[in-house]
Amino acid sequence: MADGSSETKSSNQMWGGRFASGPDAIMEEINASIGFDKKLYAQDIRGSIAHATMLAHQGIISAEDKDKIVHGLDTILSEIESGAFEFSRRLEDIHMNIEARLATLIGPAAGRLHTARSRNDQVALDFRLWVKEELQKTERALTALIGAFLDRAEEHAETVMPGFTHLQTAQPVTFGHHCMAYVEMFGRDRSRVRHAIEHMDESPIGAAALAGTGFPIDRHMTAKALGFREPTRNSIDTVSDRDFALEFLSIAAIAATHLSRLAEEIVIWSTPQFGFIRLSDAFSTGSSIMPQKKNPDAAELVRAKTGRINGSLIALLTVMKGLPLAYSKDMQEDKEQVFDAAESLELAIAAMTGMVRDMTIRADRMKAAAGSGYSTATDLADWLVREAGLPFRDAHHVTGRAVALAEEKGCDLADLPLAELKAINPAITDKLFDVLTVEASVASRTSFGGTAPAEVRKQIAWWRARN
Ligand code: ARG
Repeated sequence: MADGSSETKSSNQMWGGRFASGPDAIMEEINASIGFDKKLYAQDIRGSIAHATMLAHQGIISAEDKDKIVHGLDTILSEIESGAFEFSRRLEDIHMNIEARLATLIGPAAGRLHTARSRNDQVALDFRLWVKEELQKTERALTALIGAFLDRAEEHAETVMPGFTHLQTAQPVTFGHHCMAYVEMFGRDRSRVRHAIEHMDESPIGAAALAGTGFPIDRHMTAKALGFREPTRNSIDTVSDRDFALEFLSIAAIAATHLSRLAEEIVIWSTPQFGFIRLSDAFSTGSSIMPQKKNPDAAELVRAKTGRINGSLIALLTVMKGLPLAYSKDMQEDKEQVFDAAESLELAIAAMTGMVRDMTIRADRMKAAAGSGYSTATDLADWLVREAGLPFRDAHHVTGRAVALAEEKGCDLADLPLAELKAINPAITDKLFDVLTVEASVASRTSFGGTAPAEVRKQIAWWRARN
């Protein structure tokens, strides 16, 4: 019924005047976007209502026609939402599907809606509104994820784990501190989202095909009605710009990259070899053949979704890179990339929030691992600098010898006999042993942003005030 055209396949009701015959079946297939841009129906209708209202306010169409249009559009909205609306591929896209249905519902007044606009500014508007709403959703989802990390960080501000570089044990840190690293990452993602919303908060409608229009429209009025800060300033740029979509995709790619690193850590931590965490049943799967297994599938899929999202960014960058100004049909290829990335990102953030909330932290395993691998060697070197006045480079050398000795004896640094340590450097006293425990090590790292529990708690409080 949306295809309210009285014409047959012979020509298109929107531009039939110029065309003697209809499109080839392949033409119709390659040209149509309705299969995916129907997602923009609500934005399209909102945009049309704002546009018609402005046209009437400016005396460009009559108040009666405007009322008919608005009423018709409301009807179409409920038809679509109830599933009664029949989308037609012959009508190409969401804009023409809705306009054709409007013509069936209200007659000739429908034809006045497209005064002083084009599908070029219409699609720019619809898509911008959609991306803006998606960014707002992303902002909320990131806030929930940050909240989950803040809770875990608070709970584990004192839980010691090994910190790694090159995935080799480096220095003891706290699990709370590690969680707060992710808070920083997702916090930056969220501020990128906020900046992007500000950036794109300009209304495209009224740019028309590319040159603006001679009708006395009021673009400030439509911008305001649609919740934009102001109208865009250049009509050519307006219909050829997809930066807002690219920005969404690049933000999504960076956030997905962060999620993927976390996913990788979850995969590693949940192995029996590491055993730092236990995933909840709700966020893992079993094996159909190996009864002992609990697999981190959700984390693995989050890691994999990053590939799709990065792919979408590259795809759209590549679509856009050679396009002359202004609109080209290439730009129709923008939507599926953004829709797919948005869906993947939403799911990935939600899955990660669930995993972080639910996972069991095995503090005993973390602590045991934190103490192995001579993780307090730097503390030994720092002690020599502080207490024995050695230059750091010399202290590093002495410590290296102590580590070699411990390795030879198969013991930890803290278990080395004092006499043998003294033989390496006579300045060493039994006070040294106080700094060799993992607890002492983390407690000593009180520099701003360091891993000491007191410092981590300060950072948690800073973020709580901003979440
Ligand atoms: N379906 C089109 C798109 O997504 C709408 C704009 C069409 N404009 C045009 N001049 N053919 O880009």
